[in-house]
Amino acid sequence: MTNLIKPYLICFQTIYNQDISIYDDAFLRNIIRERQRELDLMTDKAYLNYLESYADEAVVFRSRLSNSYSEFFRNPLTFAYLEQVILPQLIEKKKISKEKGIRIWSAACAAGQEAYSTAILCDELIETKKADINYLIFATDIDPKVLEQAQRGNYQSATIGKVTLKRIQTYFIRKGENYSIAPSIKNYVDFSVFDLLSGEGICPPASVYGNFDLVFCSNLLFYYKHEYRVSILEKIGKSLSSEGYLITGEAEREIIKGNSYREVFANSAIFQKK
Ligand SMILES: C[S@@+](CC[C@H](N)C(=O)[O-])C[C@H]1O[C@@H](n2cnc3c(N)ncnc32)[C@H](O)[C@@H]1O
Repeated sequence: MTNLIKPYLICFQTIYNQDISIYDDAFLRNIIRERQRELDLMTDKAYLNYLESYADEAVVFRSRLSNSYSEFFRNPLTFAYLEQVILPQLIEKKKISKEKGIRIWSAACAAGQEAYSTAILCDELIETKKADINYLIFATDIDPKVLEQAQRGNYQSATIGKVTLKRIQTYFIRKGENYSIAPSIKNYVDFSVFDLLSGEGICPPASVYGNFDLVFCSNLLFYYKHEYRVSILEKIGKSLSSEGYLITGEAEREIIKGNSYREVFANSAIFQKK
């Protein structure tokens, strides 16, 4: 821990009764620098005093700890590889093995963009291949507010900037300036609260058992310190089927490589257990 961070940990613990030591030092440092610039309090002492004196600033700081930004088909390479390689292979495998269907978990789903994007791909491919199989997506997040948005399934146009016109016409309903996800897709996604750092099991209780073919854990790991990242990755490892895939954010590829996973496609953020 750097000397810059320590007084902030103490401040949050003693004044605001919150343990922020789980967060990565570099992530905390960025938030501190960002707030210093925004408030024009450029010395560490000045900003720390401000944070200690104004509870409203602790609220702002906390809100920066939980970034829920997402978009449909966020990482184009990942979704292309899913569409062209992984999902077609899974569909064939399920057809041969007569297993019930494809099981997917979006483990930090924010407002559901990643889960619904994957549902769109499954729907298209199952239809094209005339496969008599099913798919089910469990989508979880620690934040009940983003899950409410996910369940409503209404999005501003910026969120669907990477969606093709054909998919917009097929899978969305335009409502003024916004777009709603079609009910045919909504029914395949089950949203629930699940904290990846809690001790309440290795996968969402709604899924009954893990054995997932695909787990997304993207754009979340870099918030947390090394030991918490490892614990999340271990949990996900246990919830994956033996040949299952882990999908992360592009910026998190280096974190995963050192952790019992191997990259399935060069420069992608898609991994399998070693
Ligand atoms: C930046 S969003 C990522 C959304 C999506 N996975 C993507 O890549 O576009 C990070 C999400 O992780 C959630 N999150 C943070 N800590 C979590 C935890 N311990 N367990 C579950 N979700 C968590 C946040 O609430 C937020 O919605």
